[in-house]
Amino acid sequence: MISGPFIIDDRKNATFRVRRATMTDPDILALEQAVVFGSSWLYVGHDSELPRPNDWRARDVGGRPVIFTRDQDGGVHVFYNVCSHRGTTLCREPQGNSRVFNCFYHSWGFETTGELVHLPGEEAYGDGFDRRALDLKSPPRIGCYRDFWFLSYSQSAPALEDYLGGARSYLDLIADQGLDGGMEVVRGSHEYTMGANWKLLVENSFDAYHVAPTHRRYLKMTAELGAPPLSKEPGERAITSAVDLGNGHAAIATARDPFRIGRPPAGEQGERAAAAFRSRLEAAYGPAWTERMYGIRNLVVYPSLVVIDLVGGIIIRTLHPTGVGSVKVTAWELAPRGEDPVLRASRLDNFLTFWGPAGLATPDDVEALECIQHGLAAGEDVAWSDVSRGMAAERCRHSDELQMRVFWRRWNQAMTGEIAAPELHVVPTPLLAERPDAYVVAP
Ligand code: FES
Ligand code: FE
Repeated sequence: MISGPFIIDDRKNATFRVRRATMTDPDILALEQAVVFGSSWLYVGHDSELPRPNDWRARDVGGRPVIFTRDQDGGVHVFYNVCSHRGTTLCREPQGNSRVFNCFYHSWGFETTGELVHLPGEEAYGDGFDRRALDLKSPPRIGCYRDFWFLSYSQSAPALEDYLGGARSYLDLIADQGLDGGMEVVRGSHEYTMGANWKLLVENSFDAYHVAPTHRRYLKMTAELGAPPLSKEPGERAITSAVDLGNGHAAIATARDPFRIGRPPAGEQGERAAAAFRSRLEAAYGPAWTERMYGIRNLVVYPSLVVIDLVGGIIIRTLHPTGVGSVKVTAWELAPRGEDPVLRASRLDNFLTFWGPAGLATPDDVEALECIQHGLAAGEDVAWSDVSRGMAAERCRHSDELQMRVFWRRWNQAMTGEIAAPELHVVPTPLLAERPDAYVVAP
């Protein structure tokens, strides 16, 4: 494995650099599997993805196959997707509904509670044979925050709420949009891979600096459709900030932003539906929290969950390395249950046309990150990437790079044990508005 340092964190000269070989060395990836993915909380799925008893989803989480399922009585479980007999993959389809997971190899069967209930020819095993020891196994820790289910492969991971820390309020801003009906993952997902190290996509997922140059054509298109253009005048811009949320989590956010990427809901009917929804939120939560909600936010829950509330919708994105230079991406759209059909149509249109792997923006990002991965092959003569934007600023804007430094410092801590003090920056007051303790949901 390459020897350190992996980052240069020079506070005096406001300079932060990342060693590019951390994104090309297979030994780094092997260590990441243990100390990053093996010890963090990782996102598994949203509660709404299991609407009925015995629904299940088969996923790879942090490089390991798991089944996310709801049992007959409504309890949610996560099991390793591996038969306890000889290790075959149990669920070979991405999703389904069945009371019993049946292994096709020798036909052992497990209920959605994990219990081994079918064992053909059981009489062939001796009296001391412990059948209960062969129930399905779960990862050591499973937890849920506001319908977002996580697992940890480490018994010693902190409590999920403590781990999420400051990221909780950002998930609240998302979950609260469901009002009394809650939020739901819309059926279907985007799945794609790109030839880039997974950490490049972490950076890209909350990089506002690239938006204007990289997505120039998309922005031109939305401007032609009537969206307010990006202003270059600082006074006209929204209140924006990059925010350190602790434990390696970070976000970029705006409030009072007249500029909204994406195509707005169509016509008068769309405007009316959007205004009615906003009134319901204001009635429920008051003006300050609603105003924050109506900003935009790109959140990364360390290490690999991305939640973005932008472009007329909300995406949940997971990214899992499939090699040191390749990453598998899955993205889902999250929406309020029972949403007005006009708003839902607009949301899905933006999900497809902006975020889709064949949409008008994601291919730009794929091209950028694959070009970086290609460039990384140049090697040690050009060994460092610069991530210093905003380091000397009193307040970091969303187009700065504080959020990436937060991620890299936490990553570096996991890899080397070095602990770095957080940077201190001012966060604008509207982005600190707190969620009302008690609120009334409008009928
Ligand atoms: Fe599953 Fe044998 S491996 S029943
Ligand atoms: Fe982009």
